[in-house]
Amino acid sequence: MTNAYDEAYRRSLEDPDAFWAEAAAGIDWHKSWDRVLDDSKAPFTRWFTGAECNTCHNALDRHVDGGRAEQAALIYDSPVTGGTVKTYTYRQLRDEVARFAGVLKGLGVGLGDRVVIYMPMVPETVVAMLATARLGAIHSVVFGGFAANELALRIDDAKPKVIVSATCGIEVGRVIEYMPLLNGAITIARHKPEKCIILARQQAAAELHPDRDVDWAEAMAAAEPADCVPVAATDPLYILYTSGTTGEPKGVVRDNGGHMVALKWSMKNIYDVDPGDVYWAASDVGWVVGHSYIVYGPLLHGCTTILYEGKPVGTPDAGAFWRVISEHKVKVLFTAPTAFRAIKREDPDAKLIEPYDLSAFKALFLAGERTDPDTLHWAEDNLGVPVIDHWWQTETGWAIAANPIGLHAFPIKPGSPTKAMPGWDVRILDGANREMAAGDVGAICIKLPLPPSSLQTLWNADGRFRESYLDEFPGHYKTADAGYKDSDDYLYIMARTDDIINVAGHRLSTGGMEEVLADHPDVAECAVIGVADELKGQLPAGFLVLNAGVDRDHGDIVAEVVAMVRDKIGPVAAFKQAVVVDRLPKTRSGKILRGTMQKIADNEDYKTPATIDDPVVLDEIAVALERIGYAKARNA
Ligand code: COA
Ligand code: AMP
Repeated sequence: MTNAYDEAYRRSLEDPDAFWAEAAAGIDWHKSWDRVLDDSKAPFTRWFTGAECNTCHNALDRHVDGGRAEQAALIYDSPVTGGTVKTYTYRQLRDEVARFAGVLKGLGVGLGDRVVIYMPMVPETVVAMLATARLGAIHSVVFGGFAANELALRIDDAKPKVIVSATCGIEVGRVIEYMPLLNGAITIARHKPEKCIILARQQAAAELHPDRDVDWAEAMAAAEPADCVPVAATDPLYILYTSGTTGEPKGVVRDNGGHMVALKWSMKNIYDVDPGDVYWAASDVGWVVGHSYIVYGPLLHGCTTILYEGKPVGTPDAGAFWRVISEHKVKVLFTAPTAFRAIKREDPDAKLIEPYDLSAFKALFLAGERTDPDTLHWAEDNLGVPVIDHWWQTETGWAIAANPIGLHAFPIKPGSPTKAMPGWDVRILDGANREMAAGDVGAICIKLPLPPSSLQTLWNADGRFRESYLDEFPGHYKTADAGYKDSDDYLYIMARTDDIINVAGHRLSTGGMEEVLADHPDVAECAVIGVADELKGQLPAGFLVLNAGVDRDHGDIVAEVVAMVRDKIGPVAAFKQAVVVDRLPKTRSGKILRGTMQKIADNEDYKTPATIDDPVVLDEIAVALERIGYAKARNA
């Protein structure tokens, strides 16, 4: 017997025009489309060509005009500032956004200009994003945990007219001053923004550059509100940089029209929330989860979104999530499994849930990394709601696979993010582009065309877009994840096929870290691998081969490379362990055997590769790993 999901999935692939046109009815269009799916320039798919729209209008003005003006649009909950809670109604948020759009417009920002936003988790960040969208300009939010050098790379690629920043971010017990990072980045970058708008926070003062910087509050006081500017549905809404296989990040480009349609559709069908419900994505606006499900998805759907400036533990304790859920009547929470592992570690018996009324809470969604069965069961047992793993990527903007509880709730199979969502024609392929049988692990690919909201290209890099995603499996998008489908079409995501690692739900490039280590004057050669970690899923570990004749203390060199990664990439890399070795294990053609090294570190059985140059090196690696606390693995 078919269900609503089967029907939706079939229609989305057989008649995508009809399926997505129907979903598009949930959006206001200034001008309707000529074509829904436009593959005239395949493999570059465009959605809703000919249409005109404005994302900010749909996220705010539409609801103000449609009867939600006095409903809460955004609740800012900030334990790190001593328990600040501030609510913005849709009208208040629209007015703030319109005024800040006036500020940007006054600085010359218009259609297609880029605005880099390097901000902490404060409402002004959301205001800046929506104001940029209001003008038809393109935002690029950079996560606050990245260092000046990473910010500089993004400035040089996006070439912003204006940067919006703040005096500081706040971590547990620590104020992160942003101005030295911003100034450092602008010094390093070849491209210089015309202006920076700086939000002064109480926790840190800043000296503004008189010719460059504008104070947020002063500019707002002097600005006139600006109206929404209609843009082509295919115009970019934002660029979001994500880790690639080198230190050079990839600028994922998202459109306006398709993005709105897919996100709005997902709110009811995947998350089962209705307009007026409270939705909380405990992530950061610097990541795709924050873009899609702190800002755009909930607001497009007329929900109340929570902006939480805090952590799952330590602000002040492992009951923080339950407090927020009960205080704001959250219906759906979306976070990463690592947050739940952190809570479980501090409060294994979930005693801190007891004081709170969680009766409004209906479902927990997890993504960013695989939900391990232990965490799944702990959350299910203690919360008594469905716990749903779903799988997606910065590139896709919404779930490729999920359990769409608003459409049809499938039985949960631990370890699986359930089934492909409408529009996603997921295929498991072998190296020769052939589909594999159920149960066999292969490369997870999506048969083209990609559905609405998927990346259009990489910013100014169509060639890199093709090389990274389309060339290896002709006719398909390569997710770079490996896995399989079972006989019920449930998907299982097993591992990345490239050198990306996943640290606390954050996607990081080991290649990028190797580039930093290789810059150390004493390092001749190096490798970075991701090793299993109970809390964060994975942690990076570095291996250093020193230049001949270097006789300095190894501990000093390790401390220096650790500091270099923190300084060049940022604290978010969580690079804290490295070890000096005599040589790295390689194939006869010189390829470093990172996969085998990782198995050794994770204490998994491994086979010595037939192509290895010298098998003894693997024993040396095992000994080195033992020195930094990793058990010696078995050579099977
Ligand atoms: N600005 C500056 N520094 C930041 C930062 C930011 N926005 N975010 C994180 N950092 C720093 C942290 O302070 C930490 O620094 P430290 O090395 O001095 O301790 C480092 O970057 C690593 O941060 P993180 O990986 O977040 O580790 P943590 O120990 O602070 O917290 C968790 C661990 C599990 C509690 C935390 O990762 C978490 O809440 N994760 C939730 C999931 C999530 O947000 N996922 C994103 C995608 S959904
Ligand atoms: P990001 O682009 O930062 O969202 O990271 C995307 C990558 O995170 C994916 O390619 C996967 O490797 C991993 N990932 C995200 N969600 C899941 C999930 N639910 N299960 C397994 N891996 C996931």
